[in-house]
Amino acid sequence: MAMQLTHLTVRDFRSFEAYDLDPSPATTILVGRNAVGKTNLVEALQLLTAGQSFRRPAPRDLVREGARAAMAAARLEGEGRVVDIRLDVTGGKRSFKRNGKGVAAAGVRGIVPSVLFCPDHLDMVKRSARVRREALDDFGMQLNEQYAKLVSAYARSVEQRNALLKEPVLDTGLLEAWDESIALTGAALLQHRCALLDRVRAHMAEAYATIAPHEEIGVAYEATVGPVEGASREELADRLVEAFRARREEERRRGMTLTGPHRDEIVFTIDGRDARAFGSQGQQRSVVLAWKMAEVRVTRDILGRYPLLLLDDVMSELDASRRDAIMGIAERSVQTVVTTTNLGYFSHEVLDGAKVVRIGDE
Ligand SMILES: Nc1ncnc2c1ncn2[C@@H]1O[C@H](COP(=O)(O)OP(=O)(O)O)[C@@H](O)[C@H]1O
Ligand SMILES: [Mg+2]
Repeated sequence: MAMQLTHLTVRDFRSFEAYDLDPSPATTILVGRNAVGKTNLVEALQLLTAGQSFRRPAPRDLVREGARAAMAAARLEGEGRVVDIRLDVTGGKRSFKRNGKGVAAAGVRGIVPSVLFCPDHLDMVKRSARVRREALDDFGMQLNEQYAKLVSAYARSVEQRNALLKEPVLDTGLLEAWDESIALTGAALLQHRCALLDRVRAHMAEAYATIAPHEEIGVAYEATVGPVEGASREELADRLVEAFRARREEERRRGMTLTGPHRDEIVFTIDGRDARAFGSQGQQRSVVLAWKMAEVRVTRDILGRYPLLLLDDVMSELDASRRDAIMGIAERSVQTVVTTTNLGYFSHEVLDGAKVVRIGDE
């Protein structure tokens, strides 16, 4: 049996004093009216599998009002082993344990990775570029430890370089030293991003074709330093350093780094036209759906196992054919936890095969 989630426990976590869930190895449907805590449970699952939550909470937000500490724990079983992941939040700090031993967030990632699809993601195509970069990076971080290290090292470097740019008197020597080092990290991050996006693109095209067979989807990475494909890491780093030099005055004036992976774009096209400007809402949602389906398949390609699929309250936002498309992947040996206020969104086949858990006072 592939590695799967077999148990979730939360204590004083968000709205829950105590809650325990034994999910199905296939599909679990959490049903309940608004504000009963469905998303809170999904968040716990995401924290325990991806090491972070889409809500990007401050640690104390996770602690139930009036309580001093929160706990969430997941049991992962399969491939002949058992892994217990535990998250404690106390004194405004988060800490993870893996089989009782303290680990960084990196230590919980990748055992059972997760793919989350929630209403926040539905307008990913038309939101700011940061949202699309984060979608790619959050995914990459679960699959590859080096990717995760690059993301945090690069973000730190940009912050520090920006602080330097804001100094009243510029230390040029120091800035140039920074330029060199940030360029190396940035170039490595660029290559990791583009390699991952290549894999996502291939599966997205296939997934999109099942949703909208007569349209062709494209995904492009637009780097501030120009084309990444075919360029060596040294070449990309050189281009970054050159760009820093060329734009130094403007960067000084604005107090920020204007070139690099933190300013890059990911552009989706449908039949060659920018989906952001020209796509209908339905088409834009199909793009996001195809992206999520691609995440599931790329995870399998890279790690050799399917992720835990978390579908939070998206059924009501999708039409029947898109609902079928998403539940179609859920059926195929992908462990899925899906939340809803209404079981009417699910077909009889899905309901027959699923474990339905009522949350709240229904
Ligand atoms: N730290 C916390 N302490 C107590 N309640 C919380 C905390 N964080 C969130 N909540 C409550 O959880 C509820 C929302 O839960 P949520 O999981 O979003 O519901 P839904 O079932 O609609 O997805 C809200 O009533 C919110 O006030
Ligand atoms: Mg919710």
